[in-house]
Amino acid sequence: MSTLISNIGLLVAADGERRDAALVIDDGRIAWIGENPTAPAADDRTDAGGGCVIPGFVDTHSHLMFAGDRSAEFEARMAGRKYEAGGIRGTVAATRTATDDELLANATRLVAEMRAQGTTTVEIKSGYGLTVADESRALRLAQQLTPETTYLGAHVVPVEFVDDVAGYVDLVTGPMLDACAPQARWIDVFCEAGAFDVDQARAILSAGITRGLGARMHSGQLGESGGVRLAVELDAASVDHCTFLSDADIDALAAGNTVATLLPGVEFSTRQPYPDVRRLLDAGVTVALATDCNPGSSFTSSMPFCIAVAVRDMGMTPAEALHAATAGGAAALRRDDIGELAIGSRADLVILDAPSYVHLAYRPGVPLISRVFGP
Ligand code: NIG
Ligand code: FE
Repeated sequence: MSTLISNIGLLVAADGERRDAALVIDDGRIAWIGENPTAPAADDRTDAGGGCVIPGFVDTHSHLMFAGDRSAEFEARMAGRKYEAGGIRGTVAATRTATDDELLANATRLVAEMRAQGTTTVEIKSGYGLTVADESRALRLAQQLTPETTYLGAHVVPVEFVDDVAGYVDLVTGPMLDACAPQARWIDVFCEAGAFDVDQARAILSAGITRGLGARMHSGQLGESGGVRLAVELDAASVDHCTFLSDADIDALAAGNTVATLLPGVEFSTRQPYPDVRRLLDAGVTVALATDCNPGSSFTSSMPFCIAVAVRDMGMTPAEALHAATAGGAAALRRDDIGELAIGSRADLVILDAPSYVHLAYRPGVPLISRVFGP
């Protein structure tokens, strides 16, 4: 089954931007890209109406397997309270008492929200269960929604282990890993004051890598911790947040293969300073943008919103922000089949109800996603 998308005002293709373009999808892959007047026939035809076509967004950081609501915490923050990692424990309590059906229904709704806003690939983490059974069920449910599942047993130390952190690390690297590894592609750790230190993070990620999982990390959200350098040393696919970075962190990222994933929804929702993306880009670091959709620090499912903030408040150009939200995300998942539109790549793409991707930032908050093709 082939589909022609004709009358594309602006096509953001891997080899550059093309005006008055068309493309053909065959069997879920891009089979042809060219000028609109020379487009071949296909079984089916969609008229883009002069709109812009971009790759589907690749959202590489989300915590969708949760129950409960933390709007009161957000309200208190807007009145001046600081964000603290400890808030995660409230969501853990609510998640443990939720049924499988409730968890899956909530996550399914959020994935649908993401897709309606142009996201065609989403990573989903566990991390609000923090017992062997609860982490493993979060991953089992997440697998129904995406192949990009991440084991985050090391999100925080749960209340029942506050006096035995070493015992919790043993659990995370032992029986919990045994139960979770078969259902996960990635392992993640929150390496930050109030969560896990560099030595614990090293033990946790190393155990996961030994079991065949790819490494990713949360670090630099609340301060510098050495986590960023550890992520690069362990060849993690991505280190996420990167709000606080030392010169040594930047040098390490520039010399390594680890993507810096920035999460502007967090700074927006916690009133923290935004990360210095120009410092990263000038150093040659690959940058991704993701929503970090979660009930505590960033309850948005919208990549267009994150792009708008990245442009308005972080000083990215619209082209840089779009690239970070698509190809950058693909790099952060070590995927070469998504995140850009080229012959042979997956036809995960979005038709915008706008002549240019600049409108994603220029018209913040406006639903510009006209049609989404993809899985
Ligand atoms: O990425 N930083 C750790 N984890 C989440 C926050 C989760 C929460 O507050 O519930 C984050 O921001
Ligand atoms: Fe997170």
